[in-house]
Amino acid sequence: MTTRRPTPRPQDPDVMARRLLRASAAPAPRDAIDWDTPVPDDVWFCRPERLSLFGTPLWEEMDQKQRIELSRHEMASFMSAGIWTELCLIQLLAKYMASSRNFSDSRSHYALTEVADETRHCVMFGRAIRAMGCDTYSPSPTVQRLFAVASTLYSELSIFALALVIEEVNDRLQREIVQDERVQPLVREVCRLHVTEEARHVSFARTELLDTAARTSRPRLLLQRELTAVSAFVALAQRIHPDVYSAAGLDPVRARREARGNPHYRRTLRWSGERLISFLTQAGMIGPWQRHWWRRAGLLP
Ligand SMILES: [Fe+2]
Ligand SMILES: [Fe+2]
Repeated sequence: MTTRRPTPRPQDPDVMARRLLRASAAPAPRDAIDWDTPVPDDVWFCRPERLSLFGTPLWEEMDQKQRIELSRHEMASFMSAGIWTELCLIQLLAKYMASSRNFSDSRSHYALTEVADETRHCVMFGRAIRAMGCDTYSPSPTVQRLFAVASTLYSELSIFALALVIEEVNDRLQREIVQDERVQPLVREVCRLHVTEEARHVSFARTELLDTAARTSRPRLLLQRELTAVSAFVALAQRIHPDVYSAAGLDPVRARREARGNPHYRRTLRWSGERLISFLTQAGMIGPWQRHWWRRAGLLP
């Protein structure tokens, strides 16, 4: 007998938005980062166990300096993808606001607060990339065009589901970095500031998604599920730009091949998406037809 997983209990979206607005009103320690302190070259830029090549034969051949250099470029790529996906989210939230909402309610005020938060996060990530001595890793023109087309098809359902894809997966990785004293203080501080505000975004997106899902017709739900799954696959693939390997002085062809087949890294991806997959499945946003996309994204076995 199959047991149906219970749908998470929807909360009142107005009550949630008011609570999040009150929490956002508290002054955040936004200038806590000392951008002028030089970033040492011999300290990890992220947790080594979460790097795409950790545990591979190529990893075993790399010396400590090269491993740390890889961590620098993977973190710069992670933050670059963070900027790009947050810019996409800002556009989608603006579209959602402009098309459908009452501008005087708490939900719309919180959506605008989130836009302001994400704008600050983009500046913070950009400054961190510069402080790490890296360039920005941009998505390919094809990926940028795909987003431009897909964004015309997203409804509220996929907007909030995709917000969760980015926020929940990054949140899990960043919370771990905050606790790890082996990682550069600058990176830990950026992650600490980010997860504090993202926790509110996650609560908002979960509440709005459940509220919207309850009012969505079956055919529309099926379309938005598919769109979310494909978009999640594309968005998550941006986190490790293929150029990070040559930037770290590695053979890019071999590095990409070993990273793709790395069981350790696949476990990291699945771990990072556990909470997200569980919530989206219970909310009806992942059905049997979408599972192959989530598998390709690395979040399902
Ligand atoms: Fe953010
Ligand atoms: Fe966010």
